[in-house]
Amino acid sequence: MDKLAIIGGRPLYGRLPISGAKNSALKVMVACLLTDEPLTLTNVPDLADIRQLTALLAQHGVEISRDGNTLTLHAASISSTLAPYDLVRKMRASFNVLGPLLAREGEARVSLPGGCAIGARPVDLHLKAFEALGASIELDEGYVIAKAKGGFRGAKVTFPFVSVGATEHTIMAATLADGETVLDNAAREPEIVDLANCLIAMGANIKGAGTQTITINGVDKLGGTQHMVLPDRIETGSYAMAIGITGGELTLENARADLLGAAISTLIECGIEITETENGLRVKKNGGRIKGADVVTQPYPGFPTDLQAQFMALMATADGSSTIKETIFENRFMHVPELGRMGADIHVDGQVASVRGKPKLKGAQVMATDLRASMSLVLAGLGAEGQTMISRLYHLDRGFEHLEEKLQNVGALVERVRNQN
Ligand code: EPZ
Repeated sequence: MDKLAIIGGRPLYGRLPISGAKNSALKVMVACLLTDEPLTLTNVPDLADIRQLTALLAQHGVEISRDGNTLTLHAASISSTLAPYDLVRKMRASFNVLGPLLAREGEARVSLPGGCAIGARPVDLHLKAFEALGASIELDEGYVIAKAKGGFRGAKVTFPFVSVGATEHTIMAATLADGETVLDNAAREPEIVDLANCLIAMGANIKGAGTQTITINGVDKLGGTQHMVLPDRIETGSYAMAIGITGGELTLENARADLLGAAISTLIECGIEITETENGLRVKKNGGRIKGADVVTQPYPGFPTDLQAQFMALMATADGSSTIKETIFENRFMHVPELGRMGADIHVDGQVASVRGKPKLKGAQVMATDLRASMSLVLAGLGAEGQTMISRLYHLDRGFEHLEEKLQNVGALVERVRNQN
């Protein structure tokens, strides 16, 4: 299996383009099932997760073509309403085909996604929302068998806690419902606004995306459109933290400060200088060590769980101590022992990790455990003394487009070593 070899200690300088957001692209791609006209998406990153979803959509009868970062998806007709276990288990976002299939075809059989490394990740909120919209749901042999003959009916749905996936999924389902759907305690992530904007361009009637109350008035039909996926805020935050670790100055092209929520003030508080430029963000560290800061992961606009692991790598070499509390997923500290192998001083007690910063980490052989954890090891390796060798790269390939090329172009010593045992 491939490994990533990193020789640490080089400051990064230059321009680094930020790709389209994986977690937005995956949702807008699914929206193609809601119309028989072509949906063209630009700024779609070339990632393993995107290819995985492409395979599932093709299996439902969607014709798909890719030209660079432009993807055209045409679901002229749906050839199958079955989403099999093998395709759904590899990537949880695949579960979000359920709502659109039900809205368009009145029935679907979709595998339950199952747990994953960072937690159990149930889909009960999705299913309760669909029941509220009039669907009948049965669970059989690991599959959701759902029916909504005659389509969904508008309803009021109050989520007991904030869920990004359930909010997005219910918005899509409600676009073709009969009447008005009101979602309360909805997630406010920028990816939800991006999905709503795409659906609105397709003819949907959605108000309030980006706030905690979203109102969707069902329409009879959606049509095709062209939509540009918004830039990846998690990739942006990760490379900004890289500068905090290595020093130097990067221009993160296409990055948007307004998408970063609480992460931006935390990074500034730590001593990373961030300024907006005409088409991106300039990120800089002015000598000295980064200062320790405390964070609690929260739904947007709070500090994102998807940056927690990377922030821990930053804190591992900060001047002072910090506490990092993970409130979204129950098992998202698997990077801690790996960072420990590099010399990081981290103690976990339940949901809280306490980090005592050290001037330097030391390169080591480490193992990626999930997507964002992999990036924390890359960041730690970029700042460490000597060589870091990261195994299980398939996690990284799920969500960071052209990682080695982007880092090499700004001066990092990073190389993919093929087929290492
Ligand atoms: C999305 O996952 C992202 N994935 C995650 O990114 C991200 O970490 C997460 O939102 C939070 O921001 C995609 O967009 C593809 P949730 P999602 O529903 O939608 C619980 C990455 O690295 N829950 O907001 O699955 C759930 O278990 C990934 O790119 C239920 O209990 O997250 C979790 O504890 C990882 N029942 C919490 O809610 C439900 O029905 C929030 O999950 C749904 C969720």
